[in-house]
Formats: sequence, structure tokens, C-alpha cells
Amino acid sequence: MTSCHSFFTGPPRGPTGRLQGMRSTPHAARLSELTRRHRLLLVAAGLFVTSLGVSAQRGPGPGPGPGNGPQPVAGLTLAQQQAFAEGVRTFGRRFTVAEGLGPVFNDESCAECHRGGGDTTRTVTRFGRQEGEGFDTLAHLGGSLIQARGIGTVSTSEGTYDFQGEDVPADATVRARRKSQPLFGLGFVDAVPDDTFRALADEQQAADPATAGRVSLLFDHTVGADIVGRFGWKAQVPTLRVFAGEALLNEMGITGPGFRDEICPQGNCDALAFNPAPALNDDGREAEALTDFMTMLAAPGRGATSDETDRGAIVFGQIGCASCHRPSLTTGPSPVRALDRATFFPYSDFLLHDMGTLGDGISQAAAGGREMRTQPLWGLRLQTRYLHDGSATTIEEAVRRHDGQGRDARQRFDALSEAERAQLLAFLRSL
Ligand code: HEC
Ligand code: HEC
Repeated sequence: MTSCHSFFTGPPRGPTGRLQGMRSTPHAARLSELTRRHRLLLVAAGLFVTSLGVSAQRGPGPGPGPGNGPQPVAGLTLAQQQAFAEGVRTFGRRFTVAEGLGPVFNDESCAECHRGGGDTTRTVTRFGRQEGEGFDTLAHLGGSLIQARGIGTVSTSEGTYDFQGEDVPADATVRARRKSQPLFGLGFVDAVPDDTFRALADEQQAADPATAGRVSLLFDHTVGADIVGRFGWKAQVPTLRVFAGEALLNEMGITGPGFRDEICPQGNCDALAFNPAPALNDDGREAEALTDFMTMLAAPGRGATSDETDRGAIVFGQIGCASCHRPSLTTGPSPVRALDRATFFPYSDFLLHDMGTLGDGISQAAAGGREMRTQPLWGLRLQTRYLHDGSATTIEEAVRRHDGQGRDARQRFDALSEAERAQLLAFLRSL
């Protein structure tokens, strides 16, 4: 149950925890601690730290891809490499019921839905009830996210309870599927200052209000201020640190410091009397390791380019794709050298856009039913399914489904000559 993001958007509604600190501060502090520790080690060994000057991660080469496992960004200190390796292990770790899995959950490990740190064709289900302008997440019935599996029968001195996966209740009027997203390069996105996104939204508003996006503003109770959401199909999560804790709880049923309250199966909190692992499941270390993993996970390397893909890149700009799928962004300061004031190439503005019929009908955090975050296009060539529900089996189909603020660009796509369209698609397949 529980719409996992409620604590950013108003008084906490469900049994959710609180956000642990503001954008990246504690985590950044920890990473720079790792950097400092490493520097001391090197000094002790009579060495000095050279500037490796690593940036964009876009060269061809051993980037992430099927088969070669998760790759870290270049230039990590020894301590950061160790933290990444620990994160890889945690990411692939299958939690057991004794360790806190469930009572209801979607899968046993992160890697199950994000193979090698990428996406899969796996979807999860969200539901809710639209009444006029109002959207009800039906939290008392287990909304808006379905946990599709249960740990089964548990017997205690009080009796026996059978934990089953949740179903979409009859009261729901909206039901949406959400595909897992690739996690490559998200450390760069995490390191972009909030003000960059605010400025980008202003810039788009000035250039063309008809297609302009807006920042997903989430209220952070711990600091009493708005912060900018950028992760998830609805830009509903502000940081990788928050996503780690939230995914542990919502996908696996693992409670932790920021997310203390177990999910009530189908909204029935009485059932938790039979929870076999009622103590806090993660003391914070698992979420921390996952944050490290995602922070340092390399961006997808670029595929082969040619005259055709170069021409396609120009078409991409000419017909207005690049206004939302912004080719490059620049990070702020980061203790991870590769992420420090680095320019990277996600092909996204990470803003919310009204996508008309392409929206999924679920209101979540700052996003309305028709609003979706611009999906980054880097690594497109590694995917086999597209769009938030994974319903598009080709890139072309995904483009043709653009509606709302994306409709004009789609119509210009439809109007391209065969040759231009082939160039554009070749470009997209090279990302
Ligand atoms: C049952 C499948 C499933 C499991 C298990 C799962 N995820 Fe996901 N993940 C998804 C789906 C679906 C989305 C899209 C969520 C949305 O916006 O609705 C997603 C999105 C994300 C994103 C956002 C990516 C972006 O581009 O903004 C992050 C980060 C993430 N997951 C991390 C994790 C971590 C860490 C774990 C393990 C604790 C995990 N996930 C476990 C299915 C899963
Ligand atoms: C108004 C902003 C906007 C414009 C303009 C736009 N897009 Fe998108 N694009 C989005 C959003 C938002 C999504 C995610 C939609 C969803 O799945 O709900 C998306 C998704 C995609 C996807 C699927 C990505 C994936 O991983 O599933 C592709 C491919 C894509 N866009 C290509 C294009 C191309 C090519 C153009 C130009 C013809 C274009 N877009 C114009 C906002 C835009």
C-alpha cells in the first residue's frame, strides 16, 4: 500500500517515514569522507593524487551493456571503488523473509527488475480513483502501488495469517502499469543543482509556453522547504538516497531509518500483528550501499556514430525533440571526481510535461494525471520496451504516441521524409 511520496507533498498521509535530510548533503559528506580517507592512505604511502580529469562518460568503450555487468564511473578513489563494489552486492542481494522481505512485496532484489543496473520489461501496477478534479490514491485499500506478492502463511501464538499479494480494488477507476527504468548515469542527474532545473523551466517558458515543462516541487518536511523532484516517471523523488530507501520498502518490504512503517497489505494494518520481522529491517547500511551504487554507476556509453546518425541528431533538434529531451546538462560540485561539475548527455530536462493521452492518469507527488517526466534517451539502444507502461515495442512507436505538449513534435516527425526519419531513428538507436 501507501503512496510512497506523500510526505513531500503535504502532511504525511500514510504510514510513511520522513525524508532523511536534504538533497545529497549527508551522502555527499560521506563520499567526501571516502575521498579524504583515500587521500590520507595515498599520502601515507608516499603518493599524491593526480587529477585524472574524467568527464562525460560518453566515449565508446566498456560502458554498461548486456553481459559486462555494472560499471562504475571512471576515476574513483580506492575507497569509492570499494563502496561501489559493496553497492553492487547489495543491489543483487535477495532478501529473505527472516531479513524482513514482505509481508507484501514485488520482488526479492533490486537487480530482479533492474538487470545489471539497467531496466527490464518488468512492470508494477498503480491504481487510484478519479473523482472530478480530485484523485484518491485509495491508501486505505493498499494504493496507489500494488505489492503483487505475499510471504504466505504465518503462525503465531495469536493465530494464523496468510499474507497474499494485493489486487486492484473494485473502487479503483484508474489502473496504470509502470515499467522499470534504467539506472545508468543517475549519479550525474542527482548532482545537478535544483536551480539548474528551475532555470531550465524558466527558459522553456520564455521560449515557448506551449511546450514548457515545470519543475516537480516536493516539500521536504525536514528542512521546511521545496526541493526539486527528478527521479521516477513522475519526477516524484528528489534524490537517489530517498529512492533507495523508498524502493527497499515499496518493492521489497524492507523498512529502514527513513521508511519505518511496514506496508499494510491491501490497506489492512491489523495484519501487521503477524509480521514475522517487525523490527527495523535495515539499520541504514543497505540504503547507503544502494545509494553509493547508483551514484557511481556509469552513464551508458554512446553507440557507434556515422554520417547518418549525425544528420539524425540535427533532425532531432530541428523538429523540436530537443526542447524536452535536452541533450546535455552540467552537474554541481561532487566529491566523486567524475561527477564534479561535469557535462553529461541524458537527452532529458527531467521536467514534468502535460503529455495528453500519453499520461497514465495517476496523480502522484507534484504531477497530475497527464503529466510525465521527460524520459532520458541515453542508453535507448540497450532497451527493448519503451514508454512508462512498456507498451511500445519500437522506438518509432514510442515517438508516435507523444501527445499533449509533445504533439507538435510528433506531427513534425510524421511529416519527415523517409530518409530524414531513417536518420532520426538511426540517431536514437545510437544513444
Ligand atoms: C518489482 C520491480 C522493481 C524492483 C524490485 C525495484 N525497482 Fe526500481 N523501478 C521499478 C519501476 C517500475 C520503476 C519506475 C517507478 C515509477 O516511477 O513509477 C523503477 C524506478 C527506479 C528508479 C528511478 C529511475 C529514474 O530514471 O528516475 C530508481 C532510482 C530505482 N528504481 C531504484 C531501485 C532500487 C535501488 C531498488 C532496490 C531497492 C529497486 N529500484 C527495486 C521497478 C523495480
Ligand atoms: C513536450 C516534451 C517532449 C517532446 C517535445 C518530445 N518528448 Fe519524447 N518524451 C517525453 C516524455 C514526457 C516521455 C515519457 C512519456 C511516457 O512514457 O509517459 C518521452 C518519451 C520518449 C521516448 C521513450 C523513451 C523510453 O525510454 O521509453 C522516446 C523514444 C522519445 N520520447 C523520443 C522523442 C522524439 C524523437 C521526439 C521528437 C519527435 C520527442 N520525444 C519529443 C517528452 C517529450
